[in-house]
Amino acid sequence: MSAERHGPRAIARLRAAGSVAAATLAWVGAHVRPGLSTADLDRLVRDDTRRRGARPSQLGYHGFPGAVCTSRNDVACHGVPREDDVLESGDVVSIDVTSELDGYHGDTCATFFVGEPSPEARHVVEVARRCRDAGIAAVRDGVRTGELGHAMHETARREGCDVVRVVGGHGIGRKMHEPPHVPFFGEPGEGKRLRADTAITIEPIVVLGSPELVEDADGWTLRTADGRWAAQFEHTVLVTRTGCEILTLS
Ligand code: MF3
Ligand code: CO
Ligand code: CO
Repeated sequence: MSAERHGPRAIARLRAAGSVAAATLAWVGAHVRPGLSTADLDRLVRDDTRRRGARPSQLGYHGFPGAVCTSRNDVACHGVPREDDVLESGDVVSIDVTSELDGYHGDTCATFFVGEPSPEARHVVEVARRCRDAGIAAVRDGVRTGELGHAMHETARREGCDVVRVVGGHGIGRKMHEPPHVPFFGEPGEGKRLRADTAITIEPIVVLGSPELVEDADGWTLRTADGRWAAQFEHTVLVTRTGCEILTLS
């Protein structure tokens, strides 16, 4: 299935939901420091989301127990916030905020350094940010999802990194996850064609080693099988005739 084309009222609501998600991500990111648990980050997200009149979309989503995904070091994505998961200096933590406002969703993620990063931590985070930006730069009316994936994967490969295969970006609107699937790899001729006025996420997860992941006993948290670190950045974008509008800038 292709993505739904949104009308002017829906687009206004997507912009508003995207702004809220971006503001909450900036707020929680500014609090990241050693000694804080990922459960503390979850409380910050709940409070800030409520203050903005929105709802954390991820809370209860297919039974997800948190309001936010907090993925530390070797956790690639879907990290469940926990009291005993405490940030230490040198860590990286990706925080993925999704907010629902007025029936529409905004979805955005960034990876933060805790204290002083190692050169390796700096590398994986910078490459992930560049992969997201390369994916966004390729978005335009008529492009296929495979071309976006190709742009993301090539950016990672050029820097000696790889991308996760088992999860991807997605359409977004009245539901957090809508068609189409937007992989972080692919070939220009492959995948669904995107049309103006559809909204998708660009959210590459970059790894230093193997892209293979293993699931924790909690049924959510996905870690790299080789224990090396991962990083992720995500924006929600609206496809336009000539490119795209980023809906989750803060
Ligand atoms: N925000 C995540 C994404 O970018 C969704 C995670 S689903 C959850 O698609 F249930 F784990 F929260
Ligand atoms: Co997300
Ligand atoms: Co997403």
